[in-house]
Amino acid sequence: MSFKFIYLFLLLFTTISGNAQEISSLILQPQDKTRYIGESSTFVINATLKEADYIVIEQSDITTTLEIKPQKDTYCKTINLNPGENTVFVTLYKDAKPIGKSSRVLYFLSELFEGVDEYELDEYKIRFFHQDAKEKKCASCHNMTSNIPTNNEALEDVTKTTCYECHNSMISTKNTHAPAANWLCINCHNGKFGEYNMQDKGASKYLVADPVAKTCAECHEDVKEWEESKFGHGPVNDGRCERCHNPHGSDNEFFLRKSIWELCTTCHAEKSNGQHVTSAIGFGAPNKSGGHPTRDREDPARPGRELTCSGCHNPHGSGGISLLRMKGTMPYGVCQRCHKK
Ligand code: HEC
Ligand code: HEC
Ligand code: HEC
Ligand code: HEC
Ligand code: HEC
Ligand code: HEC
Ligand code: HEC
Ligand code: HEC
Repeated sequence: MSFKFIYLFLLLFTTISGNAQEISSLILQPQDKTRYIGESSTFVINATLKEADYIVIEQSDITTTLEIKPQKDTYCKTINLNPGENTVFVTLYKDAKPIGKSSRVLYFLSELFEGVDEYELDEYKIRFFHQDAKEKKCASCHNMTSNIPTNNEALEDVTKTTCYECHNSMISTKNTHAPAANWLCINCHNGKFGEYNMQDKGASKYLVADPVAKTCAECHEDVKEWEESKFGHGPVNDGRCERCHNPHGSDNEFFLRKSIWELCTTCHAEKSNGQHVTSAIGFGAPNKSGGHPTRDREDPARPGRELTCSGCHNPHGSGGISLLRMKGTMPYGVCQRCHKK
């Protein structure tokens, strides 16, 4: 008897306090425990609780409010994820009181950003969206076919491509890569797969081959030269250009995922003090503060550009040792680039 009483009491308590009820069908997209390789996620919300006035999407520090409109029960919103784990709450409100809610825990994995713990990852899966069964839920309002030309010539008005409506927030960075900015998505997203994503065969209409270098090489002839260079660089040898470049665009030069110095020191933290530049060839530290400068100066060999790691190293490959911008195996050969006697 007391058991039943406690249960009733709890039920009464939760209704009185106005706690929103959990609605499992509230969020149509994405699925819980999705792992992302890109920094955005699209929420599609089915707000069929007719009496609601507005929807609030809450992330750690950002809140988005969508107003409920008559005769409209599906609401779509793309949000940006932070690196690592993101918990996103969706709540329906009526007269400023929560009346229904649901949430998703998502993971944005990028090895180039901090706050990412590989050990947490087992429970998160990459879940491709472009499959017939999932697209069906959207087809009543969105055109789910592709009208992207395959002959390399962009539509005159790129906002007319069928991908634009859903993916336009992706192409809003300061610098954008020509084939993405022209919405020639299918140049790369041709459904093909490579040695690293064979297991994804058929999982999405718009798969991109991994490694992607062969695709890049179709337009960038240098790739062949890099692949054949005497001294190669790990990520380039693996064909994984997207480790460093965002193939769509970024706020950094050359569409890099971070500024060059930050990018290099993510994987080579121990080189950030510049000690390595001179120590290897028998010089002491060039100045009292320690090593050779690696930034915050102009690069004498590249007027108008800041000195950075790539002033001395070619990130893609080189005929010289340690990827240095010179030929041969004597590292001091590179000094002459900037220190001419
Ligand atoms: C130059 C080749 C290239 C072009 C052009 C391109 N993509 Fe991509 N895209 C890639 C690669 C490579 C990845 C995998 C990136 C990664 O591993 O982070 C990717 C990933 C994605 C993803 C999932 C991850 C993310 O970053 O959000 C989406 C969505 C996407 N592309 C959409 C598009 C759309 C839409 C277009 C057309 C406007 C487009 N892409 C054009 C190469 C390209
Ligand atoms: C009832 C009609 C309807 C349905 C069903 C619908 N959408 Fe939308 N969607 C829209 C409208 C209208 C917009 C334009 C933005 C707006 O007015 O909210 C939009 C915008 C979007 C955007 C861009 C949002 C942004 O923030 O840039 C994405 C992405 C999207 N929809 C994805 C989907 C997906 C995925 C589905 C299926 C799971 C879906 N939509 C189902 C009507 C719908
Ligand atoms: C109805 C909206 C919608 C339309 C139209 C749309 N996409 Fe997507 N796309 C999505 C959503 C949602 C995702 C999942 C990623 C996310 O949560 O943001 C996605 C993911 C992708 C991915 C990653 C692989 C996958 O299957 O998850 C690629 C690549 C992509 N879209 C390319 C395209 C291209 C190319 C077009 C046009 C031919 C297109 N999309 C049209 C909504 C849309
Ligand atoms: C369909 C042809 C095409 C493909 C495929 C392609 N690119 Fe490009 N890329 C271009 C064009 C055209 C430019 C020059 C215009 C611009 O800067 O956007 C360019 C420019 C660039 C630049 C800037 C070069 C500079 O000097 O500023 C980088 C970096 C780049 N691409 C990387 C890549 C990577 C990485 C891939 C593969 C993921 C790739 N590209 C695939 C056509 C392509
Ligand atoms: C380790 C990181 C890294 C990888 C991996 C990488 N790049 Fe780059 N890329 C850079 C940096 C850094 C620059 C800028 C170099 C500079 O300062 O001039 C650059 C510049 C470029 C440019 C501009 C022109 C040039 O030759 O400098 C192109 C095009 C380019 N990369 C394409 C690619 C392609 C294609 C791949 C894959 C085969 C790739 N990159 C792999 C870091 C990388
Ligand atoms: C994603 C991680 C990653 C990034 C980013 C990265 N590297 Fe590397 N780098 C590696 C790996 C792995 C190796 C070791 C494998 C090898 O020797 O190629 C390496 C090796 C090197 C070497 C030694 C090559 C040799 O022949 O001994 C140099 C020099 C180097 N990187 C410079 C750079 C510079 C400059 C940048 C920034 C443009 C950079 N790296 C960015 C992963 C990275
Ligand atoms: C002023 C020129 C210069 C700059 C700037 C520079 N390096 Fe180097 N780097 C060198 C020289 C010279 C060597 C060869 C040392 C040797 O032979 O051991 C080298 C070697 C390396 C190696 C391979 C060393 C090893 O242990 O195998 C890596 C990795 C590297 N640099 C990364 C970087 C990174 C990351 C930056 C930016 C923070 C950077 N370098 C900036 C000149 C430079
Ligand atoms: C990419 C250009 C570049 C390369 C290559 C380069 N340096 Fe430098 N170096 C600089 C810059 C810039 C300074 C700072 C000059 C200043 O502060 O006025 C500097 C400063 C120095 C200094 C301190 C000189 C002084 O006046 O305080 C020494 C010593 C030095 N470099 C040695 C080397 C050696 C040895 C090599 C070859 C391993 C080398 N540098 C390669 C750009 C370069």
